[in-house]
Amino acid sequence: MKIITAKTATEASARAFDIVNELMRRDQLQVMGLATGSTPLDLYKQICESNLDFSRCTSVNLDEYVGLKPTDPQSYHYFMQEHLFNAKPFKESFFPDGTNPDAGEVTRKYDRILAQHPIDLQILGIGRNGHIGFNEPGTLFDSHTHRVALTASTINANARFFENPDEVPRYAYTMGIASIMAAKRIILLAFGDAKAEAIRQTVNGPVTLEVPGSVLQRHPDVTVVLDEAAAGRL
Ligand code: GLP
Repeated sequence: MKIITAKTATEASARAFDIVNELMRRDQLQVMGLATGSTPLDLYKQICESNLDFSRCTSVNLDEYVGLKPTDPQSYHYFMQEHLFNAKPFKESFFPDGTNPDAGEVTRKYDRILAQHPIDLQILGIGRNGHIGFNEPGTLFDSHTHRVALTASTINANARFFENPDEVPRYAYTMGIASIMAAKRIILLAFGDAKAEAIRQTVNGPVTLEVPGSVLQRHPDVTVVLDEAAAGRL
């Protein structure tokens, strides 16, 4: 794993942007794997303000809540629209279909999409408990797209985005650990001291199902981009 630490989240995001920019310049970014959450917002902002053109690229998102329509402001689809796609439209953008309750159908279809669009660069954030995408602790490393029941800690962490905590969805569809590990390159972003312990375990801890991020130690091309606070326990 390559570790880059910058003073602030904005400076760290600029380092991640440099990687995206360089891959685009070399024409090595046909398929980009995208993440939601507050962590990649600064990177997306820098992409929006750049002159990069994604109209020949495909995007695949890590996850989507079950039960939310793309037009629901809390859906990850809407999030991406607002923070990236309105300014930088991709040729095509895929999400697991949160409106379809048939998990078998949704996950089979998404795995097919991922097989047809191998990811050149996956952007990742990390949960405080070490989850990546919505792969909570205990998720098998050979998992592909699946439906998950979110843990209480993840539901609480995400409640800040909802007016009423009861509205936070309890289930999501997520790419699995194997789907993430299949990406050619990965950038893991983490900012703030709330992420420091998850980063310590991900980078220096044993590779264990209990810390899903730790599996990234086995990937040949991961860059971990941190601010000083998130790097505080390394
Ligand atoms: C959610 C998302 C993850 C994200 C995590 C951290 O659970 N599914 O992809 O990494 O939140 O969110 P944040 O970046 O807001 O801390």
